Amino acid sequence: MGNWSHKHILSLSNFSLDDYKSVFELTERFKSLNNAGTKKIPALQGNLITSIFFEASTRTRNSFELAAKRLSADVQSFSPSSSSLSKGETLIDTALTYAAMGSDILIIRHSSSHVPLEISKKLDASNSKTSVLNAGDGLHSHPSQGLLDLYTLSKFFSPKLLKPEILNSKQILILGDVFHSRVARSNIWALTAFGANIILCGPPTLIPEEFTNFVSSSPPNQIKDPIPSRGSITISRSLEDSIKSADAVIVLRLQKERMTENLLSSIKSYSENYCLTPEKLSKNNKDIPILHPGPINRGIEISSRIVDEYPNCLINDQVSNGIPTRMALLYLLSKYKKN
Ligand code: CP
Repeated sequence: MGNWSHKHILSLSNFSLDDYKSVFELTERFKSLNNAGTKKIPALQGNLITSIFFEASTRTRNSFELAAKRLSADVQSFSPSSSSLSKGETLIDTALTYAAMGSDILIIRHSSSHVPLEISKKLDASNSKTSVLNAGDGLHSHPSQGLLDLYTLSKFFSPKLLKPEILNSKQILILGDVFHSRVARSNIWALTAFGANIILCGPPTLIPEEFTNFVSSSPPNQIKDPIPSRGSITISRSLEDSIKSADAVIVLRLQKERMTENLLSSIKSYSENYCLTPEKLSKNNKDIPILHPGPINRGIEISSRIVDEYPNCLINDQVSNGIPTRMALLYLLSKYKKN
């Protein structure tokens, strides 16, 4: 395990190749232990981990909480509806309250971009040792999902020896509602770090042309990109064309709840063009892997026949891999604290 330099995990835009290596070495170790029957280890005994989800979640919340329990941490969770938010407490004060209770790590999800960043700044300004782990913020970032997707794809192409470099020059098609997707943004940072070339496929309202420049400059709060050379990003408006050369497809959920205006002529016409079906997939003559971060909208962006019957549909692998990946992230943040 290399040196770990992040107190908070907010985005993958500042991850170096060594950072990915540190996460994946641990992910492999925790997965092997689990497969060998060791469900729980005392690595984080005495740590307090708090999950603060201001927005709904099934996979991320439960797998982070399970990951924390498997590392023997104490776990508490915050539920907005039964909290003092209803009495006017701000979300920053809520987070500071959990830090004051002795939380070592706050796992935070919010519908607005950069809420975890703002909380981390407030904690740092008060000399708190508490770390923040972003579990998905608005349109910005979902780092643990980006990591588990990278891990899942790497294992598909190199099952025995984990080697993300295997993705170098592979064409990864990210399909659908890229604009509203923090998962897509984290996938792009993670996959291009290992030289994968991204094809974004969808209508102009959901994939503006500017996305081709997404990784060409660092985000405003970051001085430089730690990755020396990244894969490219291109845009296609035709699934039937772009799927022909794809080595993998990551399907995205159509995020109707984030659409503030009518961006589609109709769901029906969107699905006719962009719902991944066995017929559209048959334009590709390899048995390529299909991923989807979930939750899925069957028949809108992905057909049930792909989800239930296609052998290389990796949705369940993504969910399973989420637990050791998140154990790795919690472990690394707990080690940072001891340095
Ligand atoms: N992929 C994902 O973030 O799923 P949840 O919203 O269920 O956590």
